[in-house]
Amino acid sequence: MGNCWGARIKDGSPHPGASGMFSKSGGKDGSRLSGCSSRASSASMPPTTKTECEILQSANVKVFSFSNLKAATRNFRPDSVLGEGGFGSVYKGWIDENTLSACRPGTGIAVAVKRLNQEGLQGHREWLAEVNYLGQFCHPNLVKLIGYCVEDEHRLLVYEFMPRGSLENHLFRRGSYFQPLSWNLRMKVALGAAKGLAYLHSAEAKVIYRDFKTSNILLDTDYSAKLSDFGLAKDGPVGEKSHVSTRVMGTYGYAAPEYLSTGHLTAKSDIYSFGVVLLEMLSGRRAIDKNRPQGEHNLVEWARPYLTHKRKIFRVLDTRLEGQYSLRGAQTIATLALECLCYDAKMRPSMDAVVTILEELQDSSEAEKNQESKGSTKQAPAISASKSSRKPRRKSLGGTKETGPKSRPVVHSR
Ligand SMILES: Nc1ncnc2c1ncn2[C@@H]1O[C@H](COP(=O)(O)OP(=O)(O)OP(=O)(O)O)[C@@H](O)[C@H]1O
Ligand SMILES: [Mg+2]
Repeated sequence: MGNCWGARIKDGSPHPGASGMFSKSGGKDGSRLSGCSSRASSASMPPTTKTECEILQSANVKVFSFSNLKAATRNFRPDSVLGEGGFGSVYKGWIDENTLSACRPGTGIAVAVKRLNQEGLQGHREWLAEVNYLGQFCHPNLVKLIGYCVEDEHRLLVYEFMPRGSLENHLFRRGSYFQPLSWNLRMKVALGAAKGLAYLHSAEAKVIYRDFKTSNILLDTDYSAKLSDFGLAKDGPVGEKSHVSTRVMGTYGYAAPEYLSTGHLTAKSDIYSFGVVLLEMLSGRRAIDKNRPQGEHNLVEWARPYLTHKRKIFRVLDTRLEGQYSLRGAQTIATLALECLCYDAKMRPSMDAVVTILEELQDSSEAEKNQESKGSTKQAPAISASKSSRKPRRKSLGGTKETGPKSRPVVHSR
């Protein structure tokens, strides 16, 4: 498995997601703006010809015309919107499997079309990084990039459609469509996402993902997890170097403390983010939730003391999971999350080690899985979403350290 379309070109290629002077201009809620936003809005899109040269020759992706994608999404109809991020809106579209040209809804294959908000150089950089990274990787736990469109000021990406949407929706959206994910499905998703991240960290790919969070974990019909969004991905350190220095980018609540404070990026920053997501799955709480009582806004800070005491972990566990997990299973996941969240980055496990632990847990809980398939999902309690519990958006985090977890030593628990 892996790099299906030849070696990646590093030298001479654009520096995907490189630290730049311009930050991505904000999403709908405006929370993605950084201090550099005024410059972002004045930045013009690089000329098309240069962009095309920057796209790696080996990327095995199709080039779509804007009119084709317009037709595939029925003129970007609002009712075909799958979701919205800082990059832009994502639409469901339909294309013919063979010709890849637009076709009627329900015929051909469904695709997800992401359309960049036409503002800023950072957006263009992320679009380019996505094409260059995702266009070359081939792994069952990475979402497939089918193609892209670069035409005048338009920048679009075409992905395989993931029928169950994001993990974020399944964990935090309330409503009849979104049943709470069972324990076993959460473990399956955790393992799939861990495998995707382990592949990115492998000697073959050698990439730091930098944006691991629940909205970037997409789910297939059978809840197989695939990572999407490589706009912030960076090549890992080479030679003697232990880290890559970057402008701090990411999403509050997920970024590792040492990355927030120094800008030094290592694969261990991704492990920290994995720990945050594991904790979100365990608790059913968002990484940052201003809607919670004082002292509970930051999930990691709130949960950490409970995770260190085996008998207290039940205070963290999602009440909707009651009766679905074994004591050993819950403790294993709590301990694993704690290890990933270790303040000392070097003490965090590798993604390979994380995959091994999750695989062992899955193997040993086959019997429980059978029980779960007999129907243990319950109706989610009706809790209305409020504005203040909106998801954290990816953005430049540079120079704003106060929301990051404090850096202090912690006892390694295993
Ligand atoms: N390939 C896909 N198939 C199905 N749904 C998708 C696909 N890609 C994205 N989506 C949906 O669109 C939403 C928006 O995705 P997008 O990556 O643009 O933003 P985000 O990850 O939510 O936020 P941010 O921009 O901060 O990273 C996702 O949360 C998901 O629900
Ligand atoms: Mg995303």
